[in-house]
Amino acid sequence: MTKKIRILSGVQPSGKLHLGNYFGAVKQHIALQDEGTCFYFIANYHALTTIQDAQVLRSNTRDVALDYLALGLDPARAAFFRQSDVPEVAELAWILGTVTNVGLLERAVSYKEKIDKGIDASAGLFTYPVLMAADILLYRSNIVPVGKDQVQHLEMTRDIAGKFNNAFGEIFPIPNYRLDKESKVPGTDGQKMSKSYGNTIDIFAEGKPLEKTVMGIKTDSTPLGQPLDPDKCNVFTLTSLFASAEEKAALAADYRAGKIGYGQAKKMLKAKIDAYFAPFRDKRKELAKEPDRVQDVLREGARKARAEAEETMALVRGAVGLTGS
Ligand code: TRP
Repeated sequence: MTKKIRILSGVQPSGKLHLGNYFGAVKQHIALQDEGTCFYFIANYHALTTIQDAQVLRSNTRDVALDYLALGLDPARAAFFRQSDVPEVAELAWILGTVTNVGLLERAVSYKEKIDKGIDASAGLFTYPVLMAADILLYRSNIVPVGKDQVQHLEMTRDIAGKFNNAFGEIFPIPNYRLDKESKVPGTDGQKMSKSYGNTIDIFAEGKPLEKTVMGIKTDSTPLGQPLDPDKCNVFTLTSLFASAEEKAALAADYRAGKIGYGQAKKMLKAKIDAYFAPFRDKRKELAKEPDRVQDVLREGARKARAEAEETMALVRGAVGLTGS
């Protein structure tokens, strides 16, 4: 029997998911459950580099767990856990830190960007990539699905794994990244949808708040009855995410013929969002009523992950000389 590939990714508990997150990343990560053994975790140790409020960290962690489970993460197929429930990762991060060049860390773009944004330059923030390498290598992962902003961190992980293997023997497979879809999802102002631009459409929003967001999408001031250009319309681009090829073509024709105005197009978009996410919203509400069940899922995920982590750590401790006589 061939050994199944191991797929791992971490998600920061950073608040509400939006359409850009979903179509750019989450949807593919969930689909990958069919392609290998998956380890998906909530990166709460990493979150400590930016969140210093226990209540916020707890509630973000709970939210992200609910979001992923509602969107189709299947705990029977993927180990889904809190990073801190496998504390071996901190031990491995220490060991990897001893083979990590400071110059490598100094070149990290993400670190510089965070400092520029005013985040404290803590040692934890500086060694963030080492902990991330530990996340990946602890499970001897083969594939790591990530966004473009994380590619440099993956290159660093490959570098660190190579250094370790050279010094101590071939313990770690060198992991590859799998780039998430370049998110072409525009936000309500037409720029790329991103929390930092405040232009998001949150996927678990509904009713009035969702309506307000969708009706507020920026369009030009072409009067009703005039032809519209679908290729220059954010509402059209967003609707396309949910439409079949035929629906898309029909809507484009209506735009060009001046048969539809922006108001009506926005109502259609809201209906599409509602129809698509309705089952996920229902599932999320159901899960939110059973916090114990969610805790059990995370605990069981951690148990599975920890068994793997222990195997890796036994090899690592032996290879570096922490154990054995
Ligand atoms: N740094 C990643 C992010 O901000 C989250 C993360 C932590 C991660 N550890 C990881 C992603 C390991 C992939 C693999 O999105």
